[in-house]
Amino acid sequence: MSYTAADDRYSSMPYVRCGHSGLLLPKVSLGLWNNFGDDRDFETQRAIVRRAFDRGVTHFDLANNYGPPPGSAEKNFGEILRQDFGSYRDEMIISSKAGFDMWPGPYGEWGSRKYVLASLDQSLKRLGLDYVDIFYSHRPDPNTPMEETMGALVTALDSGRALYIGLSNYDAAQTTEALEILTDMGVPLLIHQPRYNFFDRRLEDGLLDVLRDNRIGSIVYSPLAQGLATDRYLRGIPDDSRIRLTHWLDDSVVSPEYLAHAHALNDIAESRGQSLAQLAITWTLRHPEVTSSLIGASSVAQLDANLDAALAAPLTAEELAAIEPHAIHGLVDKWLTE
Ligand SMILES: NC(=O)c1ccc[n+]([C@@H]2O[C@H](COP(=O)([O-])OP(=O)(O)OC[C@H]3O[C@@H](n4cnc5c(N)ncnc54)[C@H](OP(=O)(O)O)[C@@H]3O)[C@@H](O)[C@H]2O)c1
Repeated sequence: MSYTAADDRYSSMPYVRCGHSGLLLPKVSLGLWNNFGDDRDFETQRAIVRRAFDRGVTHFDLANNYGPPPGSAEKNFGEILRQDFGSYRDEMIISSKAGFDMWPGPYGEWGSRKYVLASLDQSLKRLGLDYVDIFYSHRPDPNTPMEETMGALVTALDSGRALYIGLSNYDAAQTTEALEILTDMGVPLLIHQPRYNFFDRRLEDGLLDVLRDNRIGSIVYSPLAQGLATDRYLRGIPDDSRIRLTHWLDDSVVSPEYLAHAHALNDIAESRGQSLAQLAITWTLRHPEVTSSLIGASSVAQLDANLDAALAAPLTAEELAAIEPHAIHGLVDKWLTE
């Protein structure tokens, strides 16, 4: 059935300025890392994207390698765009990234100019777009001069293939170095995309300061710790869960210690009338440097519940203090070290 976006799609989602740029992003954005590959039902993917847009989610985050197989999330999202969103392109912020393994040989990953620009061209083809709104370096490359990777991002801008550029998975020192290079080139850095959730708190270790000092926005990924910061695993491991369906997580993360802390966090969530997932999103959004919380969802129901967090009351000092003993960095470290 053809799609017409909801008339009231801009009536409730708050939009936040990304750093000192002109770009506003929704407080909660949708990522397509998992749940949008060829292993998942296309109509479910389409329903999630439609529902997100109907509820004011203007920002959709992709990368060259999202799938499985790599590239299939961009291909499927491109199909959804073609079928449903042709007339809405100018209402959407679509991002992609290059950095991880995509094709064989020495030019298929990391940060060389050759790889970054070839990858962007491939992404645009899969998405069926002339440009992406944000193009990221997905990870720093220790063996390529930072000038070369930043130069490739600037070429993406100058050639009209991207409107803004961002960094992902760069630590505070790497971000500072990249910023200096971009500043010398006269190009602003729009955004940083770090991982941030109850169990991965590296963002607090200097990167927040760099973002604040330079007025750069951020969109934090995996705010639900891939489902571990939700009630998904409180009563066992469901057959349709990420633990069962992907290699990103395994049973060992659902340890007795994890369960004790997750139940305690769940109690805090309940005491303020939220689900654990909603509490987790609200918690990531408490820093002014965090522009948007970048969730994943495997169903429309999950998405709907998560988007409600965009309107939640901020956490009180007492609630933050109650959360603190349970927001343990490294508690579920299978994926922290990946
Ligand atoms: N830059 C990077 O290096 C990088 C890396 C990773 C991710 N990202 C970005 O961040 C996005 C989000 O990452 P993520 O998928 O790991 O995010 P997440 O929000 O931490 O986890 C999403 C998963 O949590 C579960 N979930 C979501 N809502 C739920 C709810 N209300 N109740 C119970 N379970 C719920 C679902 O798991 P089930 O599948 O089990 O239902 C869902 O697939 C990605 O799509 C991508 O755009 C970026």
